[in-house]
Amino acid sequence: MLEGKKIILGVTGGIAAYKMTSLTRLLVKEGASVQIIMSPEAVQFVSPLVLSTLSNNQVLIHLHENNQWNNHIELATWADLMIIAPATANTLAKAAHGLSDSLLLATFLSKKSNIMFVPAMDEDMWLNPITQKNIDILTSLDHDILPVGEGFLASGIEGKGRMLEPEEIVLYVKENYGRTKSMSGKKILITAGPTQESIDPVRFISNHSSGKMGIALAETCYENGAEVQLILGPTHLKPIYKGIEVVSVATAEEMKVACDIYFNEVNIIFMAAAVADYKPMTRSSQKIKKIEEELELTLCKNEDILKGLGLKKKEGQVLIGFALESENEIENALAKLKSKNLDFIVLNSLKDEGAGFGYDTNQVTLINKKGDKFQSDLLSKKDIANFILSHLFS
Ligand code: PMT
Repeated sequence: MLEGKKIILGVTGGIAAYKMTSLTRLLVKEGASVQIIMSPEAVQFVSPLVLSTLSNNQVLIHLHENNQWNNHIELATWADLMIIAPATANTLAKAAHGLSDSLLLATFLSKKSNIMFVPAMDEDMWLNPITQKNIDILTSLDHDILPVGEGFLASGIEGKGRMLEPEEIVLYVKENYGRTKSMSGKKILITAGPTQESIDPVRFISNHSSGKMGIALAETCYENGAEVQLILGPTHLKPIYKGIEVVSVATAEEMKVACDIYFNEVNIIFMAAAVADYKPMTRSSQKIKKIEEELELTLCKNEDILKGLGLKKKEGQVLIGFALESENEIENALAKLKSKNLDFIVLNSLKDEGAGFGYDTNQVTLINKKGDKFQSDLLSKKDIANFILSHLFS
């Protein structure tokens, strides 16, 4: 997701510097070009050779090296983003007051925007009002200061001041600096996961949907710059990005209410949830006792949420349904496309190995209003989301 992004990773002299090997590897894996600049103190904590190998780039340390001047202005202009991690109390203080006694700080002072500090220090240093004041100065200048974690610190005490883990830093970079604009301005509504229809206070009717397919769609739309509203049935999963708005629901009725609230203001709607078609006619207020040999449950139909949305679809809105079929797949999917007034339907066949409920992978046939069919390979659910989006906008 960071393909083509040019990132300077400024490493300063704290014990957490050793974690920059992982951070560098993760940034490179995401497709970023990484240029590492170390403070002279940082080389005591992590080897420049390791970082240069992992970043595929020479590590820069001093303003003058090998009889050459390292041009901090060019470096600052080259970079889309400068991450200073770990940012020690000393570096934060120098940065807040404009000191420029290293290549790293000179590059920071030459860079006009997109600067991110990832603090790491002992709790006393972190809580010291001087450090907090320096952070206020940097924040007021629009620099991005990430929070610190709490836990075991290098000094042996437990407390605040731990640097965020490399995975958390990369997630932050992706969410705040990595989103593309191909879907910016678009508002998307997505349903995902199962619904649960109560029989009594301890039992319910549901299905095996994990929510993975809908969540993958939500994350992909969000990565492409869209505003995403996710209506999520009961699942232990959630999207990785904080910016995706999630409304948690349990029953089909709750899912319908949530969809109705957002429907009017969105441009594209993906209904990936596996909504229970039936619910118990009555819900027992007490746990049903195990007395009889047989127990009869009377079920009644849940309202078809998608059909209702199809009826009130406005000009310009794109409505995409999903269909999970076990036989006559194409025929059944086409019937749903028509009867629910959809623009597209994404067909899942229960016959496909590794596809559908619960898997990390999926295989689908996307069908448009004209009946054109686009068959995917077995791909990760994220790639299926990209496959669907690529055909929607082609
Ligand atoms: O969540 P995962 O584990 O990742 O699995 C993904 C998935 C298999 C659930 C997903 O890819 C999928 O196929 N979702 C649709 C499953 C389904 O319920 O299909 P259906 O053929 O019963 O429903 C057709 C469409 O009507 C669906 O868009 C459904 O959301 C919608 N519907 C159904 C019933 C109802 N009462 N209201 C609805 O809106």
